[in-house]
Amino acid sequence: QKAKVKVEKDFIISRIDRRIYGSFIEHLGRAIYTGIYEPAHPEADEQGFRKDVIRLVRDLKVPIIRYPGGNFVSGYNWEDGVGPKELRPKKLELAWRSIEPNEVGVNEFVDWTKKVNSEVMMAINLGTRGIDEARNLVEYCNFPGGTYYSDLRRKHGYEKPHKIKVWNLGNEMDGEWQIGHKLPHEYGRLAREVAKVMRMVDPDIELVVCGSSGPGMPTFPEWERIVLEHTYDVVDYISLHYYANMPGPDHIDLPDNPDLKSFIAKNLVMEDFIKAVVSTIDYVKAVKRTKKDVYISFDEWNVWYHSFKKDKNVEPWQIAPPLLEEDYNFADALLVSNMMITLLKHADRIKIACLAQLVNVLAPITTVKGGIAYRQTIYYPFMHASNYGDGLVLLPKVESPKYDSKLYTDVPLLETVVIYNDEKEEISVFAVNRDVENSLYVEYDLHGFNGFKVEEHIVYDSEDPFAGNTPENPDRVVPRKERNSAKIDGNKLEVVLPKFSWNVIRLK
Ligand code: AHR
Repeated sequence: QKAKVKVEKDFIISRIDRRIYGSFIEHLGRAIYTGIYEPAHPEADEQGFRKDVIRLVRDLKVPIIRYPGGNFVSGYNWEDGVGPKELRPKKLELAWRSIEPNEVGVNEFVDWTKKVNSEVMMAINLGTRGIDEARNLVEYCNFPGGTYYSDLRRKHGYEKPHKIKVWNLGNEMDGEWQIGHKLPHEYGRLAREVAKVMRMVDPDIELVVCGSSGPGMPTFPEWERIVLEHTYDVVDYISLHYYANMPGPDHIDLPDNPDLKSFIAKNLVMEDFIKAVVSTIDYVKAVKRTKKDVYISFDEWNVWYHSFKKDKNVEPWQIAPPLLEEDYNFADALLVSNMMITLLKHADRIKIACLAQLVNVLAPITTVKGGIAYRQTIYYPFMHASNYGDGLVLLPKVESPKYDSKLYTDVPLLETVVIYNDEKEEISVFAVNRDVENSLYVEYDLHGFNGFKVEEHIVYDSEDPFAGNTPENPDRVVPRKERNSAKIDGNKLEVVLPKFSWNVIRLK
């Protein structure tokens, strides 16, 4: 089979905002405790953070990390997590039915993000709390000093303000499961007033208002319309969340005959979701007769289904229970690759995105308590995109063979995006071949680009699409380098994509 792609140097979708390679850490399961933080671990630093995890996160080059939730934030009192550790309360954590020891809070997390060369994207609690808590937390984090909350921060050992730039106005407020779930009008009004007051404390912050928790929500997309009609002029981004699962009966890990052809097309559901939200933003922009743009923060996205069943048997009210621990396989990594390409193709509207999450919970990195930290399969495509996906996304014209699956029709075999790094004079081609059985020959016409040579062709594939990495065999599914499979002649690049594979072709 053969596909053709044409790009033109001057036809640009957008310059990539690096925050599209963001991630997320929630006080959930073992993300914090025995994940990033384990004081008794041999690799723990002076603050109790695991240095092996820090190294793996650094390699991912994650510029922004959302914190502290997630559903957790809607019942969280941030004051419990600051000040002397011995005075911090242990609390019932209702969202995940756990016990929260509060050994890590805002200040420690800011320290950790610096260690991993990142910064915090802070969510506030709009479930059980409101304007008062929000303004106090902004004052605590961002005001230099001389007031109650800023001086409290200084007393806690943080002389300089944290200068947290991006703030989420709550989390998934459209969801019935959310502590303090709201109707769109209720949430829109509250979010507007909270946004106004937070900006009074710090006019330099950027604000993300909650969109829908997924395209399947009953209130989507009316939720977006109503919430934006209330908040358009006071926010900068609207959030989207999407988790893909394997089609089949609910709450099982893998069905007997996994429908891989539908599964690997699920980024197209994500794409339709993005387009619908873009249209809703534009509709409200027209209603408001404004020139201001609101962008998208796709602040939760990933694959999630392996842990549904086992989580039902986890005992409640434990500290750091093993929740949402996905053992990702290669097929999951390939869908993550497709989802990453989808986000990049919409880089004109998506300025922030967070792979949810980062350590142990729905994560590219898994830790063994007292033992090793290793890379899940999904680690690799995300790392490649983040490391090699800087610069300008070019508008691709793609001609690809298509297939019908049980759930979707007209699914292209090829998913691809071409990125031109105009500072380094480099091109990165990201490409997925969805074909489970055959390789795919692709011809790229890179119009306007001359003198480029193939630097490397990284291939990520697996004979067994359901193979994954484990503590016993952490390097079972890893990328490899392919020689002589990508050739360039003038501005024509020819490449063979192995069956069911993720490919990075780097040109210099
Ligand atoms: O990322 C796990 C959970 O998924 C988050 O807490 C919540 O926001 C979403 O439903």
